[in-house]
Amino acid sequence: MKTLVVYSSHTGYTKKYAEWIAVDLKADILNLKEFTAELAGCYETIVYGGWLKAGKISGLGVLKRHLKDLGNKKFCDFCTGNMLGTREELEALVKKNFTKKESAKIKTFYFRGGFDYKKLSRINKFIMRSLKFVLQIKKNPTEGEKAIIESFYSPVDYTAKENIKELMDYLKNG
Ligand SMILES: Cc1cc2nc3c(=O)[nH]c(=O)nc-3n(C[C@H](O)[C@H](O)[C@H](O)COP(=O)(O)O)c2cc1C
Repeated sequence: MKTLVVYSSHTGYTKKYAEWIAVDLKADILNLKEFTAELAGCYETIVYGGWLKAGKISGLGVLKRHLKDLGNKKFCDFCTGNMLGTREELEALVKKNFTKKESAKIKTFYFRGGFDYKKLSRINKFIMRSLKFVLQIKKNPTEGEKAIIESFYSPVDYTAKENIKELMDYLKNG
């Protein structure tokens, strides 16, 4: 089973998961920027990983355009973010990123990534500072929201190799 892992990563957390998956599957690995429809033709299985930005999986639109017709290819995707990954959050995530038809065919996994403010681009720093401001003036922030404010002062890294187990089981046995 020839497998390709494609990823899009802004600060490195998604790349880390993509590398763990590629090593375990003995798969090729590629940044989304280098991915083409022609390349996709050489693989039986494609795994895509992107980071969450305002609930959207980064790069997914680009990938979907390249992979218009999956044929009998196996495809699954994962995304990383800061949220805990509760059932409600994951349901909202799938709804926001896939049509009903797509989500019936495509399996999505969520892994907690991390947050490092210093590594963000200017525009993403601006977006996150605006979010921080909103959270700081909130009357009763939740524990999760307090954690987001804290993470501006010291980077957080929730990545853990064991998180990929479910995806690996899905690809090997599912
Ligand atoms: C502008 C911006 C928006 C974000 N939006 C979300 C979000 O909607 N949900 C979430 O869980 N995490 C969100 N995050 C956190 C990132 O998804 C998280 O840090 C991710 O692991 C980064 O992956 P990367 O290092 O591969 O870029 C956001 C981060 C930034 C900078």
